[in-house]
Amino acid sequence: MPPVASLLIDNLAQLASPSGAAAPLRGDRLRSLDVTAGAAIAIVDGVVAAAGARDAVVRRHSDLPLYDAGGRAAIPGLIDCHTHAAFGGDRANEFDLRSQGAGYEQIHAAGGGIAASVSATRAAVADGSLDAALDRHLRWMAAQGTTTAEVKSGYGLDRDTELAMLDAVCGPHAIETVATFLGAHSVAPEWGDDADGYLDFVLAEVLPEAARRAEAADVFLERGAFTAVQAERYLRAAAGHGLTLRMHADQFSEAGGVELAVRLGARSIDHLEATGADGVAALAASDVAAVVLPACALMLDLPRPPARALVDRGAVLALATDLNPGSAFCDSLPLVMSLACMQLGLTPAEALAACTVNAAWVLGRADRLGRIAPGYDGDVVILDADDWRHVSYRLGSRVTAAVFKRGERL
Ligand code: NIG
Ligand code: FE
Repeated sequence: MPPVASLLIDNLAQLASPSGAAAPLRGDRLRSLDVTAGAAIAIVDGVVAAAGARDAVVRRHSDLPLYDAGGRAAIPGLIDCHTHAAFGGDRANEFDLRSQGAGYEQIHAAGGGIAASVSATRAAVADGSLDAALDRHLRWMAAQGTTTAEVKSGYGLDRDTELAMLDAVCGPHAIETVATFLGAHSVAPEWGDDADGYLDFVLAEVLPEAARRAEAADVFLERGAFTAVQAERYLRAAAGHGLTLRMHADQFSEAGGVELAVRLGARSIDHLEATGADGVAALAASDVAAVVLPACALMLDLPRPPARALVDRGAVLALATDLNPGSAFCDSLPLVMSLACMQLGLTPAEALAACTVNAAWVLGRADRLGRIAPGYDGDVVILDADDWRHVSYRLGSRVTAAVFKRGERL
């Protein structure tokens, strides 16, 4: 866990934080935000002691070290609940090929894509450079306001590299990290097209030790990856080891992911670019969070995920970057929020709640993350603006002036 500090953040033009204490937020409640003009925040030993109108906060906490926000706006530290930030190398060559018309699935089928990152990540573990690569990516994210990030394995696909990836994620970092075991990201190259043989190996040889490091398990349910039957086998075994269940599904095709996620009581189903009205209705009637990844839809030019319909029908919606070297080379939740507002029909308040309270809920941390209120961790983003809406309104440029994790400036 990152270090803690005490701090008085004074002279805020605005403090914006999702209302109430409930999580997750659905429907109209997703847009309910408390905005206090002329505010301050007191953080004592890493935890918010007081937040709100500045006179009352400053009077009680004037002894704390001061950070003068200079008339800027504050929002909660952003929470990225879906990333693949631990990887070696990059895939700039594939980006170039896709710009010339090659398809993402076509590159994957030809042995590139995830398999290319598997080779590079195995090499990074072998030469000891994976930790530095992960730290570099986490620093990019922190600079954009992310104070907590989920990071998946899934570029090892052998025992030692998968466990080394999880160890890297669990190691100390400037921001808080949450490890997810994505042993079923793709069939490892050495297993050819024997997906069931590969899964037998993962469940017997990797899962028991992965479960000691990770909080959740994830699977890629898609043509060219794993079927619903295989995903169910993997997820049931993971649940048996006490892991929370997550799923990549409906990215290119609907293949039973929503039905499976609901039936298994998964925490989330992520992507949903291909999800139709029945899937939206099923998610709305469930407690499975819909995690949409607008940077991936943009980078692969996929249909837009039905975020507006999901919110309107009452589903739990969260947003994430999906940071990875192939489908979403994006470290910025503010950019994701911009895309959600401009392309998916969310309001800035909904986008903020989807990257704070609801993302915290996906990661099982909504009791202490996602709001700026007494008792919550002192995770605060000071925007380079006097209006909180600039976090979505600014398009693609850096909108953070300072980022604090448990009161410590990053
Ligand atoms: O979320 N869809 C599967 N996995 C990742 C991409 C992985 C990659 O291309 O390296 C995703 O898009
Ligand atoms: Fe992903």
